Amino acid sequence: MSLSIVMREHGGPEVLTAVETETGNPGPGQIRLRQTAVAVNFHDIYVRTGLYRTLTLPGIPGLEAVGLVTDIGPGVTRFASGDHVAYMTLGYGGYATERTLPAELAVKIADGVDDVTAASVFLKGLTAEMLACRVHPIKPGETILVHAAAGGVGNLLVQWAVKRGATVIGTAGSAEKLDFARQAGCTHVINYRTENFVDAIREITNGLGVDVAYDSVGRDTFKGSLASLAQCGHLVNFGQSSGPVDPVAPAELFARSLTLSRPNVFHYAMKDRATLEEISAALFQGFVEGWLTAPAPVQFPLADAADAHRLVESRAVSGSVVLRP
Ligand SMILES: NC(=O)c1ccc[n+]([C@@H]2O[C@H](COP(=O)([O-])OP(=O)(O)OC[C@H]3O[C@@H](n4cnc5c(N)ncnc54)[C@H](OP(=O)(O)O)[C@@H]3O)[C@@H](O)[C@H]2O)c1
Repeated sequence: MSLSIVMREHGGPEVLTAVETETGNPGPGQIRLRQTAVAVNFHDIYVRTGLYRTLTLPGIPGLEAVGLVTDIGPGVTRFASGDHVAYMTLGYGGYATERTLPAELAVKIADGVDDVTAASVFLKGLTAEMLACRVHPIKPGETILVHAAAGGVGNLLVQWAVKRGATVIGTAGSAEKLDFARQAGCTHVINYRTENFVDAIREITNGLGVDVAYDSVGRDTFKGSLASLAQCGHLVNFGQSSGPVDPVAPAELFARSLTLSRPNVFHYAMKDRATLEEISAALFQGFVEGWLTAPAPVQFPLADAADAHRLVESRAVSGSVVLRP
């Protein structure tokens, strides 16, 4: 049996309720996990509110978690009982103490990285790698903009960009978050709730604009991000924490030869097994070598998932939030 968080309808955090569910034995190609740490992602908020209708209801939300392999299904050779693994899946089901899972979705966690840290950075770190190394491979000397730079993805993206030689301008919504973004490696920080970030960027870049703008905030920042780009600049819109973005006419891009991307980490990191292993290894290696760091995540008991959602939506968190089964 597993304690699971089930959603029967879309709505506020109160729709997340704890119930006992049956786990079952792992089938062919599957493993069973006793989960040790479950990540909360902003995606989970979109799923709960119904902005994304990708979880069939009633259903167990949660895109990713970390756990101990307790059972191996027929045909699984990649893992053994006792392995610590991380996974992400668009099949959801992460908010649970136990689950079965296709073994192909999981990777072993590197020695030296503990389960809670791994859960706090796995999907978010694979996203940072995708953004900094694949969607726009950052070159030394580039100046980039990272919105929500103190957020879960933002904190890791700033560090990855600095590692690749960029000068990073970060935005965030409070003085405390700006300090956090500076510690992650931002050379310049802007409170986009109190300052006009487009004007501030123009001043910082002597009117040139940035080479790349990484925008996960969406509705509130999208137009300003486009306006902050240098000629031939690249806007990478990878989220919509403030709401969906209005349609854009290609002519708006043509005016200054701009590029617009809207990437999904599942399409990049889960393209095939080799890519998943390569990006996961790069992420864990960053932590082992010490050029990637993450603050201890805010932790909640799994049964208090609703409170975790309230905190994430309140914009009060720097870094990540993790549920403990
Ligand atoms: N495309 C992909 O494959 C992919 C993968 C992972 C994540 N994402 C996206 O990346 C973003 C970051 O994800 P995360 O899990 O690391 O979350 P997060 O950045 O830790 O949290 C979202 C942050 O967005 C900022 N924000 C701005 N306007 C907001 C609003 N109206 N309501 C709430 N927050 C607002 C807040 O920071 P401030 O207070 O500093 O403004 C907040 O802390 C999300 O949009 C997520 O959907 C996309």
